Amino acid sequence: MCGIVGYVGKRNSADVLVDALSKLEYRGYDSAGIAVMEQGDIVVEKCQGKLDNLRERLAVHKPQGMVGIGHTRWATHGEPSDINSHPHGNKRVTIVHNGIIENYLEIKEFLLGQGYHFVSETDTETVAKLLDYYYDGNPIKTIHKVVNEIRGSYALGIMFREFPDRIFAIRKDSPLIVASGEGENLLASDVPAILKYTKNYYLMEENELAEITADQINFYDPHMNPIEKEVQVANFDMEAAEKGGFAHFMLKEIYEQSKAVSTTILPRIKDGMPDLSECGLTAELLKGFRKIFIVACGTAMHAGMVGKYLIERLARIDVTVDIASEFRYRDPILSEDDLVILISQSGETADTKAALHLAKDHGAKTLAFVNVKGSSIARDADMVIYTHAGPEISVASTKAYAVQLAAMYLLTFELAYANGKISKEECRSYMEQLTAIPDLITKTLEVKEECQFVASKLLNAESLLYIGRGLDYALSMEGSLKLKEISYIHSESYAAGELKHGTISLVTDQMPVIAVATQTDLFEKTVSNIKEVKSRGAKVIVVLKDGMKIEEGVADHVIKIPQVENIFTPILTVVPLQLIAYYTSVLKGCDVDKPRNLAKSVTVE
Ligand code: M6R
Repeated sequence: MCGIVGYVGKRNSADVLVDALSKLEYRGYDSAGIAVMEQGDIVVEKCQGKLDNLRERLAVHKPQGMVGIGHTRWATHGEPSDINSHPHGNKRVTIVHNGIIENYLEIKEFLLGQGYHFVSETDTETVAKLLDYYYDGNPIKTIHKVVNEIRGSYALGIMFREFPDRIFAIRKDSPLIVASGEGENLLASDVPAILKYTKNYYLMEENELAEITADQINFYDPHMNPIEKEVQVANFDMEAAEKGGFAHFMLKEIYEQSKAVSTTILPRIKDGMPDLSECGLTAELLKGFRKIFIVACGTAMHAGMVGKYLIERLARIDVTVDIASEFRYRDPILSEDDLVILISQSGETADTKAALHLAKDHGAKTLAFVNVKGSSIARDADMVIYTHAGPEISVASTKAYAVQLAAMYLLTFELAYANGKISKEECRSYMEQLTAIPDLITKTLEVKEECQFVASKLLNAESLLYIGRGLDYALSMEGSLKLKEISYIHSESYAAGELKHGTISLVTDQMPVIAVATQTDLFEKTVSNIKEVKSRGAKVIVVLKDGMKIEEGVADHVIKIPQVENIFTPILTVVPLQLIAYYTSVLKGCDVDKPRNLAKSVTVE
């Protein structure tokens, strides 16, 4: 979704803004722009397309000044175009915006009646014009008046010509941080944008306002009273947000999975047992749940699918997994005895956030698995298990999924033990096996070349099937999503036993099948399904565990993951599936880290 930056300091702001925007490219965008205070005038440069297009424009004319705001736009209202790009406004007030103004048509009609003209199709332009309409020489009062009239979500960076040494910011339901450096201060949608300049930043709460000059930041609460805020220190540096010698962020992040999983699990082991007490999860609390709902989107929802199989199998508690955008409108039957788990890398996904609020309204206990510290979902949930993946820049989630699974194992074991479904010895044994997973992830990466080879065979496919049973099925959903989102090859994940009820009619020699068959108890049944597709001409790639064998002629290619107990295979099997997707995308020449139409953090419905 859109990225916002702002700068006030001692450097040429155009350079800082473009550099900071480049660190937000992962969010997904289709146009970019900046506004700079140049000798008392607000000068805007903006255009459709990638940041390079904007750089080209700036090479011709770069506004000079040390105060400015910038934006990368992911189109919602109006197509990607120069006109619809941000900043929006006029000579007096100019803004950048991330979010959606729901009542913009109403406001637009009112402003048209007041003689305003609109040039873009965006909702943002109405906010800019409304600021202009209410402006009375006091920016803070004006901004408050406007946010009291708009409905929806917004993170706003605002410049007033009459206040040439400062920028203003306010947010609701869209992320925004304010960063403080030495003689320079910044504004950004996310931490990677500020790391080159400072590690210190402030998290903006709903409708708090910031007034930012080069050497001062004033914060105001929603009633316009000045407030003090606690400074946060980013716990990762520039390097963590750079490619570090890898061709793409996605590959780097696949390789970081082992470390990320260690960081997520090791601090939560006490005396060989899982210990989530720092997250507010006590044995007493874990005993009482009637039902568990897991609610999330995309990859995070797939981690939830694995969670369902794990929790039901080991803790014997009924689990329902929901896509957040469905959950929020399906009127779920929730009670105070239920636990609702929200999974989100960004902690800002609009549908997941709405699902969290719905669960809270029904009195259910809420637990969030979140990667981004201080994000909305982390702040609003009753309890939070932070996953420690570090910054994930590639739009396609990889290490975020691995740590979501790691946290799910911890929770499952703790739930199963607290509910008397496994003994202390069994729990310790599971924890021991979990502790070995990071090394096994590293070992699994040895299949890299085989995955490259498989990718070379998939290039011309128009469509693919992923099949599996049980945990293998849950996991293959993620494999399928990875492939389609970055290589643009259509794929579906199917329960292997369900194929013959319709979908097998699609199988021909033009439809490769990736079969995951790591569950020893289901192996023979899955092999029968593999034979069914093989005999209809499909090229079959089979993923097995070390030590498993498949008859000659059934698979065209076999990839093996290390030997682990059945419940642990998803966290290893995902590695070859990620690599197959990655190499397919590279070989097809796609934009691996920034696939078309996608955004890293989906802050709109
Ligand atoms: O930030 P979230 O985990 O809430 O994001 C949810 C999905 O948008 C996300 O998992 C998406 O499906 C992946 N980036 C795809 O790789």
